[in-house]
Amino acid sequence: MHIGVIGAGQLGATLAEWCVEGGHDVAVTSRHPERLGDVVTHLGGHGTALPVAEAVDFADVVLFAPNWESAPEAIELAGTTLDGKIVIDATNPTGPLLGGATSGFETLMSLAPQAHWAKALNTLPANVLQRRRGHDPLLAEFVCTDLRDARQAASTLIRDMGFAPFYAGGAETARLTEPGGPLQRTEVDVFHAKDVLAEALTGRF
Ligand SMILES: NC(=O)c1ccc[n+]([C@@H]2O[C@H](COP(=O)([O-])OP(=O)(O)OC[C@H]3O[C@@H](n4cnc5c(N)ncnc54)[C@H](OP(=O)(O)O)[C@@H]3O)[C@@H](O)[C@H]2O)c1
Repeated sequence: MHIGVIGAGQLGATLAEWCVEGGHDVAVTSRHPERLGDVVTHLGGHGTALPVAEAVDFADVVLFAPNWESAPEAIELAGTTLDGKIVIDATNPTGPLLGGATSGFETLMSLAPQAHWAKALNTLPANVLQRRRGHDPLLAEFVCTDLRDARQAASTLIRDMGFAPFYAGGAETARLTEPGGPLQRTEVDVFHAKDVLAEALTGRF
């Protein structure tokens, strides 16, 4: 697949590398794509740096990993190129949420309602993902979305990166994975994910 990574910082650049190792071609972005030389070098012949809208245009799937404060700006820069595009939101909201939505994920969805959003890859720090990646038993990566195509794409990508996708539920479930939710910072392997999710869902509303 072609993967567009919006926000090639600590998390985004790491995920970009794993996407390439998983057989995908990647376009990384920042507000200053000219500064992404080192990141692109690490991606070998399978990575390039592009402005946000061009990277989204290039992508079959977008990995969305800017810092939270810049997320609305990144969506604005992408503009209508996000329409109909599968977008995996790996951000964690900090500070007050925009628009009174109940999760960062739902806030972002409201800013680009034509995109096909999934929430995933946000619960654990990159160094933990690095440590667990590809190791048996595989680390579970929770996926939240209402949309079948977004679920399938997120699951494929997560598998290709060396983790086990685990469907947690629809968009409203994403709040469980964000800061303050019981799945945030929860390191769980695929065999225990069902029990951990069931417990998290018990106290949901
Ligand atoms: N780091 C982790 O281990 C980790 C783990 C799970 C989830 N997360 C979440 O992932 C998000 C990113 O975290 P991080 O630690 O990777 O942050 P980071 O190192 O600060 O990287 C954020 C990147 O986003 C880019 N960016 C900001 N605004 C942008 C825009 N409008 N368009 C394109 N790129 C833009 C920044 O580059 P420029 O300034 O050059 O634009 C920067 O490289 C956060 O929401 C965080 O909570 C992080």
